[in-house]
Amino acid sequence: MSSPGSFLSDIKNIRARARQHLTQGAVTSNYGGNVEDAITLLNHAVATEIVCVLRYKFHAVCATGLASEAVKQEFAQHAKEEEAHLDLLAERINQLGGKPNLSPDGLLSRAASEYTEGENLVDMIKENLVAERIAIETYREMVRYFGERDPTTRVMLEHILAQEEEHANDMHDLLVSHEGRPMLEK
Ligand SMILES: [Fe+2]
Ligand SMILES: [Fe+2]
Repeated sequence: MSSPGSFLSDIKNIRARARQHLTQGAVTSNYGGNVEDAITLLNHAVATEIVCVLRYKFHAVCATGLASEAVKQEFAQHAKEEEAHLDLLAERINQLGGKPNLSPDGLLSRAASEYTEGENLVDMIKENLVAERIAIETYREMVRYFGERDPTTRVMLEHILAQEEEHANDMHDLLVSHEGRPMLEK
C-alpha cells in the first residue's frame, strides 16, 4: 500500500499520463486487464442478450391459451430488460474503444443462450428458465474475471446478473403455477 503522501506526489504523473494517449478515451494506463479480451467477452454477452431479446419477443407474441395473458406480459417485459442489458454492454464496449458486434452473421455461435421456440406455454417458460440459468452462470464467471481488473465493467455486470436472477425466479414461479406442481426438490 502506498502512503497518502506518495499518492499525492503521483498526481503529477497521473496528470501527465492523462494528457497522453487521448485517443484511448476512458482506457488509461492503469486499466487492469487486457482490453481486447474484455471486448471479446463483452461481445459474447452482447450476442447472448440479442438471442434472449428475440426469444422473449417471439414468446410474447406466440404464447396462446387461456392462461397466457399474464405470461405474455412477463415475456414482453423481460424482452425490454434484455434489450437494456444489450445497450449497457454495447456502450461499455464503445467506452473501451471497441466495436459492439451486432451482426446477425454467426450470432448464435457467439451467444451462450439458445433460441428455442417451444411447443406450448410451459415449454416456453422452461426454455426461458434454461436461458436465464445460462446467463446467470456466464455473468457470474465474467464478474469474477473482471474483479479488480476493471471495476466499472464488473459493477455493470453485477447489475445485469442481479436482474437475470430475478428473471430466472419469475420463470420459476410461472413454471410452478402453470405446471401445477412444486419445482423445488424435496
Ligand atoms: Fe439479460
Ligand atoms: Fe434475463
